[in-house]
Amino acid sequence: MTATALRLSGDFSIDALTFDDVTLPEPAPHEVLVKIHAVSLNYRDLMLVQGRYDPHVQKPRIPCSDGAGEVVAVGSAVTAFRKGDRVVAPFFLDWLDGPPTAAAPASALGGAIDGTLATHQIFPERALVAIPEKFSYAEAATFPCAATTAWHALVSTANIGPQDTVLLLGTGGVSIFGLQIAKLRGARILITSSSDDKLGRALSLGADHGINYRRHPDWDKQVRDITGKVGATHVLEVGGAGTLPLSLRSAAIGAQVSVIGVLTGLEEPLNIGQILMKTLRVQGIYVGSRAMLAESLQAFADNDIHPIIDRTFEFERAKEAFHALEKAHHFGKTVITFPA
Ligand SMILES: NC(=O)c1ccc[n+]([C@@H]2O[C@H](COP(=O)([O-])OP(=O)(O)OC[C@H]3O[C@@H](n4cnc5c(N)ncnc54)[C@H](OP(=O)(O)O)[C@@H]3O)[C@@H](O)[C@H]2O)c1
Repeated sequence: MTATALRLSGDFSIDALTFDDVTLPEPAPHEVLVKIHAVSLNYRDLMLVQGRYDPHVQKPRIPCSDGAGEVVAVGSAVTAFRKGDRVVAPFFLDWLDGPPTAAAPASALGGAIDGTLATHQIFPERALVAIPEKFSYAEAATFPCAATTAWHALVSTANIGPQDTVLLLGTGGVSIFGLQIAKLRGARILITSSSDDKLGRALSLGADHGINYRRHPDWDKQVRDITGKVGATHVLEVGGAGTLPLSLRSAAIGAQVSVIGVLTGLEEPLNIGQILMKTLRVQGIYVGSRAMLAESLQAFADNDIHPIIDRTFEFERAKEAFHALEKAHHFGKTVITFPA
């Protein structure tokens, strides 16, 4: 069959993406053909398209890791799904459960292999997760990268609870999922943002304190003041080079600093003194497994928590969605929807 994909073929730039017809084979015995209904964008997709993620990525490449849709055909040996089922794909097709595997990076959708920004895509049966009834396709599509990453950090590696103070940086996709998960776990929540309006929205979602990082470039001091000089017991570090030194200074003794993002760049010498003298656990996080995706979906469904979708764009306007993500006016997630 022929799918339409928005692909990276020539130059690295949003405007160089092209809508291409792509021929998909019949699903192999253990594969499933999915009609994509929604894709959510992540900062990594923007980096990929702009050549900042992997300048050597093989082209043409279909970007995006996050896709949710409807099963339209199954291979001859598929037993877990049938036509009409609503499914979402994990970020890594080959990291199903347990600790990360060497095979995972080569199975990353929208990076190492073609992703989800297409009307149809084929996935292995073993990877797909059923969408809980209460979530729309758009909502389900927000979980594979951002929610799984926040879940991996806060729950799978740290098992946070009411005793924790979680520090979140900015109000993008990962941080707002982090807020919802920290709230669900009963933790105290501090969040930074460049915008007072966004801080107001974060407080209304349950954050306990907001800090404007533009007005307070030394926001680590605010964190220490608010916490009575103790610091945060978990930092969801999405900022990268420009924020990591402040995140380490914001961390409490024995805290976990989950190193996730590179919003301000990659190159930063570590302050080893902060790490060892505070006995910090600096934990690298690369999204997470299929099991973490399934757990986060289930936890949100069980507790009737819905992802925060800022804006939705139709597939034909997908390039505008990338431009919107670049402007960073969003709060939470940006989603692309496909005609039914
Ligand atoms: N390691 C992994 O597996 C993994 C997984 C997911 C994401 N990531 C990375 O994590 C980062 C966030 O991803 P995302 O998809 O959540 O991004 P996003 O939705 O595009 O988030 C953008 C937001 O980040 C905030 N921000 C920008 N510069 C900041 C700074 N200096 N200090 C604090 N906040 C800042 C801004 O919030 P305000 O507007 O409120 O200021 C901005 O709106 C990216 O670097 C991404 O590549 C990594």
